[in-house]
Amino acid sequence: MNSIYDCYELNNGVRIPCIGFGTYRAADGEDGAVVKTAIEAGYRYFDTASFYGNERQIGKAIAMSQIAREEYFLTSKAWKTEMGYENIRNAFMESLERLETDYLDLYLIHWPLPEDGFAEWRQLDIESWRALEELYHEGKVRAVGVSNFLPYHIENLLKNCEVKPAVNQIEFHPGYTQEVTVRYCQEHDILVQAWSPMGRSKVLEEPVILKMAGRYGVTAAQICLRYALQRRVVPLPKSSTMERMKQNQDIFGFELGEEDMYILGTMPQAGWSGQHPEKFGR
Ligand SMILES: NC(=O)c1ccc[n+]([C@@H]2O[C@H](COP(=O)([O-])OP(=O)(O)OC[C@H]3O[C@@H](n4cnc5c(N)ncnc54)[C@H](OP(=O)(O)O)[C@@H]3O)[C@@H](O)[C@H]2O)c1
Repeated sequence: MNSIYDCYELNNGVRIPCIGFGTYRAADGEDGAVVKTAIEAGYRYFDTASFYGNERQIGKAIAMSQIAREEYFLTSKAWKTEMGYENIRNAFMESLERLETDYLDLYLIHWPLPEDGFAEWRQLDIESWRALEELYHEGKVRAVGVSNFLPYHIENLLKNCEVKPAVNQIEFHPGYTQEVTVRYCQEHDILVQAWSPMGRSKVLEEPVILKMAGRYGVTAAQICLRYALQRRVVPLPKSSTMERMKQNQDIFGFELGEEDMYILGTMPQAGWSGQHPEKFGR
């Protein structure tokens, strides 16, 4: 990978850029100014969700950019309250309408469980996935996947469904790398994507990362994003300023050595959001 426009191939052959722009809390307000800036900064891959409440602003910014829809890669997600066959089909059509488009590049089930301890998750996930499979076969979405699914949640889909998830989007950054889930997905040809690839900036103050950044002559943010890239994980950095947006794309001019990769992958837990699909009664 040599630039944000270089792509991986998903397990259904669709090409997906190796870095996307995260939009959670990125387009607050009416005008979507941050998204416009991100487009100017060169981003074409936008990760959103109905839950973020910003699909309209993103749709508007894209429409006003005068750049062809096919140049963009647009992901949205079905929220916990939108699970189930009928609900997801409706939620998907509403996302399309808000994003001012007639297809999505990728659509994900946001979480495997609608609430902690939900016992009927297996059946609900299968029904939800059936809706995604249909949308995929109807050509309304180019690829379908999941988010925050642990291996046994994915096994449930693989055993009971026809279309394999192309992507699993999980929290992933130095200090919280979810090795079991990453290994499972990579062994099953499911592309892993990193949400909070900089740990919502919490890990950027970790001394081990700061020292490493000094040695490579880059920033702590660039160390985190490069780490994801070298793990074949797609980072989705969110930023509000042009300077940081550009900095977060500038990760192709250096390579982390093997020892540093191990150090980043084994550092004590840091920056974990506290979010887990099942709190197991906590
Ligand atoms: N699937 C899910 O359940 C899920 C959950 C959470 C997030 N996501 C997705 O993942 C995306 C990214 O995650 P995130 O927004 O939680 O966290 P993140 O991208 O790890 O961190 C964003 C924070 O880092 C700061 N930052 C960005 N670039 C920086 C740089 N170069 N130097 C210093 N600080 C920098 C940003 O500040 P400024 O904004 O001030 O620049 C912001 O405070 C989200 O936007 C969303 O699209 C998905």
